[in-house]
Amino acid sequence: MPQKQLTIEAKTKFKVPFGTVSITPEARVLIDQAFETKMVTRGKCVQEFEEKFAKLFGTKYAVAVSSGTDADALACAVLYDYGAKRGDEIIVPALTFVATGNAVLQAGFMPVFVDVKRETLNIDPDKIEAAITPRTRAIMPVHLMGKPAEMDKIMAIAKKHKLYVIEDAAEAHGAEYKGKLIGTIGHMAAFSLYAAHIVTTIEGGIVITDDKAMAEALQSLRNHGIVGKFEFRRIGFSAKMNEIEAAVGIGNIKIFKQILDKRRRNLLYLIDKFKKFDKYLITIQEEAGEKIGPHAFSIIVRERTGFTKDEFVAFIESQGVDSRNLFYSIPTQCSSYAFLGKKLGDFPEAEYCSDYGTHIGVHQDLELDQLDHVVSVVEKFLKNKGLK
Ligand SMILES: Cc1ncc(COP(=O)(O)O)c(C=O)c1O
Repeated sequence: MPQKQLTIEAKTKFKVPFGTVSITPEARVLIDQAFETKMVTRGKCVQEFEEKFAKLFGTKYAVAVSSGTDADALACAVLYDYGAKRGDEIIVPALTFVATGNAVLQAGFMPVFVDVKRETLNIDPDKIEAAITPRTRAIMPVHLMGKPAEMDKIMAIAKKHKLYVIEDAAEAHGAEYKGKLIGTIGHMAAFSLYAAHIVTTIEGGIVITDDKAMAEALQSLRNHGIVGKFEFRRIGFSAKMNEIEAAVGIGNIKIFKQILDKRRRNLLYLIDKFKKFDKYLITIQEEAGEKIGPHAFSIIVRERTGFTKDEFVAFIESQGVDSRNLFYSIPTQCSSYAFLGKKLGDFPEAEYCSDYGTHIGVHQDLELDQLDHVVSVVEKFLKNKGLK
């Protein structure tokens, strides 16, 4: 069945919208069944979705929760079963969606931020060891935009310092690193299933792991810390997924490869077309040994180009290209984190990506003529600036 028939396209003023959501006919049948039988929570769909997600990633366990933020937070909270104490530290990249830092705090830990590399957008492994203290319990790399973090180096540091690794794979469904699927390298991996992602449940999240005890802790944590019939052994969350969300997820897993392939085609097309703008713009790149699981296409204005990111964004948006800021340096550019006492300049690479960076869609509903439109808009912008 052609892609178009499988998707509901959001109504938007943009010619090149940022995101989309695919709802399959199978999902609609399952949703109707759930409503007819009134089995809307804790029914067969959540279990089936978990089994199918685990199978897709080749892991033993998958625990579905209500958001990607909960997936991050619950994965952190599992560490209390492994000797961690409240207030212990978890290392995270400074540049990521704010949810990563929030989740660490929500789980009762302190996020310790490490700068990223401008070219990869991901945590700089060479800066991790300096951030480790006696209270560090885990490293939480984020695979931003679906580009794998440097997992070999991160796993080696974790091993040396006896730390857990929780992958924030919210944006990296289907990404690969040296032949391994992203999400299968650390001790646990948390995915967001929010509407913009490759596998979506509209709102939702899921944690995968090969460790039975970790999976059981996650199941307990999503349901108020319950164990057995009515015993509460952990400080839990209320973070269950419902049947309607799981039904959408089951449908999405069926077309996972189709969505991933389309997004990869779009990403690689844009990477190639943007080569001619390399003098002015840094874009995400796929390196040897990795496969990006595309979330979006990042564009960072180089230094001394003679134009600002704001000018660039205002122009592309005026021409129908929807965009989002390339996140923020959480500790220095999100006022909610002022309590950490960090100051601008402490995370120069993350701050640069934020000040000079944006990202645009490469999702499954975008066709090549829309991507060509993006390219011609950028050409026009540079021409207007007297650059080429
Ligand atoms: C890197 C990262 N972590 C965590 C999240 C949180 O996911 P959610 O919005 O499903 O809570 C997101 C959201 O997409 C994200 O991009």
